[in-house]
Amino acid sequence: MPVITCIDDLKRLHKARAPKMFYDYAESGSWTEQTFRDNTADFAEIRLRQKVAVDMTNRTTRSTMIGQDVAMPVALAPVGMTGMQHADGEILAAKAAERFGVPFTLSTMSICSIEDVAARTQKPFWFQLYVMRDEDFVRRLIERARAAKCSALVLTLDLQILGQRHKDLKNGLSAPPKLTPSTIADLATRWRWGLGMLGTPRRFFGNIVGHAKGVGDTSSLSSWTAEQFDPQLDWGKVAKLKEMWGGKLILKGILDADDARKAAEVGADAIIVSNHGGRQLDGALSSIRVLPQILDAVGDRVEVHLDSGIRSGQDVLKALALGARGTYIGRAFIYGLGAMGQAGVTKALEVIHKELDLSMALCGERDIHNLGRHNLLIPDGFFTRYS
Ligand SMILES: Cc1cc2nc3c(=O)[nH]c(=O)nc-3n(C[C@H](O)[C@H](O)[C@H](O)COP(=O)(O)O)c2cc1C
Repeated sequence: MPVITCIDDLKRLHKARAPKMFYDYAESGSWTEQTFRDNTADFAEIRLRQKVAVDMTNRTTRSTMIGQDVAMPVALAPVGMTGMQHADGEILAAKAAERFGVPFTLSTMSICSIEDVAARTQKPFWFQLYVMRDEDFVRRLIERARAAKCSALVLTLDLQILGQRHKDLKNGLSAPPKLTPSTIADLATRWRWGLGMLGTPRRFFGNIVGHAKGVGDTSSLSSWTAEQFDPQLDWGKVAKLKEMWGGKLILKGILDADDARKAAEVGADAIIVSNHGGRQLDGALSSIRVLPQILDAVGDRVEVHLDSGIRSGQDVLKALALGARGTYIGRAFIYGLGAMGQAGVTKALEVIHKELDLSMALCGERDIHNLGRHNLLIPDGFFTRYS
């Protein structure tokens, strides 16, 4: 068993163990990948203020996100095709999150279905919705999430059309993988993954196959998105979906102060400042750089969460110190899953928790709620460079 000390260790193992097509799917951004790179580079620009000779006993990272208790304010982000990174991936990640005490968000484009995950977990999870043209199908997805006792609906607003990722096109990304000479050659070296897949029936988009009517090729994420996602989604439809759901609503993909105000007006419980991990509008700013203007725009009318670029507990600390109430990790937990299944997701959470806790101590803080701008050193003009 290799010694894992950081998220990068899990990433290396993920790369070695998962088929190239799925590792590449996770480890890429759209077009030139500028925003994908900026997400991590901008976190690195912000530095932490060290404090010494401060009592650092009895620290706590416990908090709440949309009123739910969390061991630390770090949720697992919705990630499509998680069950292709490792057999039964969504179930394993949900179990790891449940045991750790953080929320798990199931993607519409998951391999394990809503019912699969609900049957194998005890605590409620969150369900992420992509709005499709087929209103009946959307209504049924919402009903299924309600029946599964999901405790929040995460409505993603930034992917009604798909940003192009070159590698996915070149690799012929699909679930399950289509057998071609190059995929066969690649799969032959991933025996661990192959054995897992042989042992599970969950190899298709579980929320879609058998549920959506009149659909063509359900194995291809890109053709499904192009054919089925609703390009007419607007704030009026968001308000209707909020009513239809009737529970806690989180709006994901906000990167602009005006949009944040609209999200607050519509009555969302939280927004996620997110550029989809650099996978949609290439050239958009990093989430961490726009966070302060969004907080200024909404005040405390809505909880503000953030994702995109978090690879460490120090990154979480920076987002919280800038005013985010909660954060999400996408790739950081996917690396863990692809590396070692459920144990790998647990490891990713442990790594991030330890980094967060120890960095808090070194910043002279004992309670996560006391983090603030005073803990940060921010380069001049960092937030005003682009206008
Ligand atoms: C492989 C992959 C698949 C994703 N699939 C979805 C999805 O199905 N729904 C969604 O709302 N966001 C999806 N996202 C975006 C994540 O929810 C999250 O916004 C992003 O991963 C955060 O950036 P990070 O990976 O740098 O942490 C996906 C991200 C990745 C990396």
